[in-house]
Amino acid sequence: MQKKVTKILSGIRPTGRLHIGNYLGSVKNFIALQGSHESYFFIADLHSLNEPYDPKDKYAQIINLAKDYLAAGLDPQRCTLFVQSHVPQHTELSVILASIIPASFLFRMTQYKEKSTDREQDSVNAGLLYYPVLMAADILLYKPSHVPVGQDQTQHVELARDAAGFFNNRFGITFPEPQPLYTETPKIMGLQHPEKKMSKSFGEQDCIFIDETPEMILKKLSRAVTDSGDASSAGGSNLLGLMKIFNPELFLMFADDANHGKLKYGELKKQLAETMGAYFADFRERKATLTDEYVQDVLATGAAKAADVAGHTLEEVRRKIGIRP
Ligand code: TRP
Repeated sequence: MQKKVTKILSGIRPTGRLHIGNYLGSVKNFIALQGSHESYFFIADLHSLNEPYDPKDKYAQIINLAKDYLAAGLDPQRCTLFVQSHVPQHTELSVILASIIPASFLFRMTQYKEKSTDREQDSVNAGLLYYPVLMAADILLYKPSHVPVGQDQTQHVELARDAAGFFNNRFGITFPEPQPLYTETPKIMGLQHPEKKMSKSFGEQDCIFIDETPEMILKKLSRAVTDSGDASSAGGSNLLGLMKIFNPELFLMFADDANHGKLKYGELKKQLAETMGAYFADFRERKATLTDEYVQDVLATGAAKAADVAGHTLEEVRRKIGIRP
């Protein structure tokens, strides 16, 4: 039986600008969920350190992601928005959980297996292996009933559930076992590699970022790979799929053309750029008005609220595991 959604928590790693795949897959759902449930959303900065990055960029990426969240409609009055590393309880609980999670569980995680074979061996660091332990701590600290995520995070949420079970068995009932909350996430493919999910790892030209102007979007779309007019290719059907999401009426028109093999991609790209540009126009305007000071303020308030909840959980945990009287 599906448990009732009462409290939710989710995070995103700050690795650069949000593209429309990220937006549709997470932020848009967070906005729909906030307010009707006790909600925690955070920027998983510690989770973003296990891959190569330039320290000069990281803080700007954190602030930029917070601005994206806020401009897109996350409301600090209706949810708690914070940065993972501002709440040190995450790291302490993760170390505690590390002692009850079997190492074999970590070695068999799909993300670890995939990333550790893709990467040069010397960049396969312990952080990559530890990733799910930290994520379990992120989740369990707040005792959420549900974790809104994409399907690719299923195994991670399962590990958090396993960790809750191991802990409860050994030290007494403490953590509810969190359920994943699958939100509708249309699969957005890349402009340059339309057989794969849109990703910055294929370069900026593969992605449409949500803060791009219609002109910038059109420039990228004009280079997107398509076919001869029947939307039979991955690239063609992806563009048509985007139109379906952003303007269902116009989509019907273009889909009809595609069925007759006479879809004009020049026209579709032009309309799509205008449609997406208009969809995010308010977002771009709001984002431009957000100052770093304001955002830092929101994040400080969020961290204090989160630390209050996390602190209580951790006190309970320290006592239960025997390191406090
Ligand atoms: N692993 C998640 C992702 O890549 C990000 C994340 C970190 C997260 N901690 C979390 C998501 C806790 C939900 C809950 O998308």
